[in-house]
Order: sequence, then structure tokens, then C-alpha cells
Amino acid sequence: MRLMILLLSALSLAARPQLPATEFAAHRAKVLLQMEKNSLAVMTGAKPLMRNNDIEYPFRQNSDFFYLSGYDRPDSRLILIKGDQPRFILFVEQAGPHSGIWNTAPYSPEEVKKYFAPDTVYSPDQFEEILKQELRGKSTVYYDFTDHDLGEKISEIVSAPWGRYPKTLHDFTPLVAEARLIKSPAEIAMLQKAVDITNAAHREVMRATRSGLFEYQVNALITFIYRSMNSPRDGFPSIVGSGPNSTILHYEKYDRQLEDGDMMVLDIGAEYGMYSADVTRTIPVSGTFSPEQKDIYEIVLAAQQAGIEKTAPGVGFGEVGRASTRVISAGLKRLGLITDENSRWQTRVWLMHGVSHWLGLDTHDAGSYLAREGHGGRLLEPGMVFTVEPGIYVSADALEKMDKIFGRYISAEELTRFKDAVRPAVEKYKNIGVRIEDDILVTEKGYKNLSGESPRTVKEIENLMKKSSAYLK
Ligand code: GLY
Ligand code: MN
Ligand code: MN
Repeated sequence: MRLMILLLSALSLAARPQLPATEFAAHRAKVLLQMEKNSLAVMTGAKPLMRNNDIEYPFRQNSDFFYLSGYDRPDSRLILIKGDQPRFILFVEQAGPHSGIWNTAPYSPEEVKKYFAPDTVYSPDQFEEILKQELRGKSTVYYDFTDHDLGEKISEIVSAPWGRYPKTLHDFTPLVAEARLIKSPAEIAMLQKAVDITNAAHREVMRATRSGLFEYQVNALITFIYRSMNSPRDGFPSIVGSGPNSTILHYEKYDRQLEDGDMMVLDIGAEYGMYSADVTRTIPVSGTFSPEQKDIYEIVLAAQQAGIEKTAPGVGFGEVGRASTRVISAGLKRLGLITDENSRWQTRVWLMHGVSHWLGLDTHDAGSYLAREGHGGRLLEPGMVFTVEPGIYVSADALEKMDKIFGRYISAEELTRFKDAVRPAVEKYKNIGVRIEDDILVTEKGYKNLSGESPRTVKEIENLMKKSSAYLK
């Protein structure tokens, strides 16, 4: 019997990977704590986006809305009330005679109660009436200032000369972002699951990769592994860039045929329970790194390790990126790709993105990067999760593009001197792009690399690439 229950709960988890209602209540409590007394917060859920004619893109809930409610379908609103007794009001589609004919049927009242546990449920068409009623007597209202439709409605209500409506309007987003920055153990478990699925895809791709495949076939394998492991969606469009495409940061065209001698950047992340992984591995299509590929790879790997090892509570967020970038600059100088390792603009020619971002419900997750006091970036705290992802991208035409990109800040003479000095190294390393990205959790003692299970060293990658795959034969 016990086994049966265990089995059933495992099955239901597979069908609906989502945090329990108590978690969402805890999220709301974190936000309520930051709200002024006698206040109300109101949010609208994501609207469906049209793809073409009358076809919609697959729906995904707004992450802030999901964080506070767990509700994941279109046409929703919520109100959060901070008073003597906090209240959570949810507005969601109700079942009617036509539901479930053209589109998925709405949640039943029992499911709404079980999954989201609101104090009161209304249908979306009751929203304006209830909002007006609840705003009466409140001192402050919070809403997302980028939600102009809602802003107009609120302004209309609160500008009435009678009814004692709120006089103070605050942006709600920073409060939710602050709460989202520190992940609970249950959220970390979701992220870990998303990362584990992503790593399984990385490992399978390492086994399956060979010249002759198209990038879209590699992408198909990634998607297949995700879905087969119960990830319903990608956290972001996979980046599968081979050869020259390895130097395009967010490449997503997938139409090139892989060749021996290519590097391939795989920047991918499964979504699980709405939480997104973001793990990058870069592999040689032939299965063996060439000396040039290894030169670049080892620098990026050492830079990433330096950033990861900086991670500890109390360290400024910016310190992680600086530790990584210092190693990149020194390595670029060694290879002859820059002439001055202390020059920020020279390093930017080959590493043009930031090294870290918060990770959670959004791949580039919510949360301020600024210190709450003083300078130096937000101080790391246990429960924060972020990526460490340095890279070097030697695109073949980088030197031709330089005048347009750097000409506004750097003199023509200096640019010419730079180009002349580094041209031989660019010739040697052109079309090699390398990024290595892991997902790092800040712990009490330091950090945990959530994505460390995916091969990362030259040797680990080459060893796994010797193995074969059941797919893409
Ligand atoms: N996958 C996007 C990024 O690494 O930030
Ligand atoms: Mn990434
Ligand atoms: Mn990233």
C-alpha cells in the first residue's frame, strides 16, 4: 500500500511538477512583509500573444504572477491585501457549458483550492468591481508600473473625489524581485531538477555529436531529452552554434551542418516547475580539441573557476565577474589577442557580455544587482542563485567591425595599432567561440555548483565524446 502511494505521488509529480500551495503562500508572506500597512497590491497575469492570424504562441504565465500565486493559465488577476488579516484574492476563468470544447477546461473549484489556496476566488469579469471595493479605505496601492492598462484603471478609481481611495501609488515589481532573489529549499530543488535535465541533454549531445549533423538535429535531441524527462518547455531558445556560429552570442538559426574542426557552443536550459536552468558547454565537433581550441578553452575554464571560487556570502556580486574577467584578460594577452591586459576595451573585443546574472523563474532572473548601501554590487547571501559564464569569441570579421563599435571612444591611431598587433592571433584563432556556464547557489559556507555534473574539463569532454548515443546515428 505504502509503495502504491509512493508510486502514485511520483506519477502525479511527473504530471504536474509544481511547488505546493504552501510555498506560494510563503512567497506572498515575503512580499507582504515589505508592503506598507493598510495597503493593497494588484497584478494582472500574462496575456496570450498572437503568433500569426488567430494562432497564439504557447502560453506562459508572467513569472512574478506565478511566484505569488502558482496560477499558470491565461486571463488571471490577483489582489494581495495587507491589513489586520492579510488576504489573497484570485480572479480566474470559471467553468461554463462551453469550457473544454475548443480549449483546455479551466481548473475546477477543488483544484483552485488545492493548488493555489486563495481566500476568495472570482471570475475575471468581476475584477474591476472587486478592485474598487477593496481599494476603498486603503492608504497605498502597489502595481506593476509597466502595466499601463491596469495603471489607467487604478488612476480612474483613486482619482474619484469621494470614497477615501489610496493617495500613494508604488511600483510593485521591486518588492517581488527582492523576494524572488533568495530561493527557498523547495525552489532550489526545482532549479536542481531543471539543471539535472539540462545536464542529461548536454551529456547526450556530447555522445551524439559528429560531423555531418545539422545544428537543428542537435537542437531536436536537446528538446527530446527535456520532454522525455518531464520538462514541459525550454527556459529559453537553445543556442546551438557551430564553427563561425560559435562566436554569435545568442545564435538560434540552427541551419549549419557540423564539420570536423568546428567548436560548438551549446547554451541551453530546461524549464521545470517554471524554474529555468542555464548551462553552457562548448565541445569540439571532432571529439578532440585542436591545440588552438584548447588554448582558448583552458583560459575560459580557468576564468570560470576563478569566478566560481570567489562565491561566498558577503562578497559583492561584481567581484565574481571581475575575478573571471581578470583571467580572461591575462589569457588574451598571452595568446596575442590583446596588447594590454589592463585595457577594458581590448578585453571587450573578445568578451562582450557580462559574466553573471541571477537565475530562477526567469533565465535572467529578477533582483537588483546594486548594493543596498554603498557600491560594489549586491552582497551575496545564502539562497541566491546565479550563473558564472565567461567566454571568448573570435569572430573572423571582428577587426573589420571594430571602427564602428569602438571608434567613438578610441582614437583611430590606437585602433590601427591594436589591429596590426593582434591580426596574426586572430588569423590563428578565428571562428573559435567558447562559453562555459554553470549555475551557482550561494550557501552558508560558500557555494554549490548545481550544474557540476556536466563534463567541463577538456579530458572529461573528450572521454564522453568517445562514447556513442542511441540517437542521431
Ligand atoms: N542563455 C542566455 C544566457 O546565458 O544568459
Ligand atoms: Mn546561457
Ligand atoms: Mn546565462
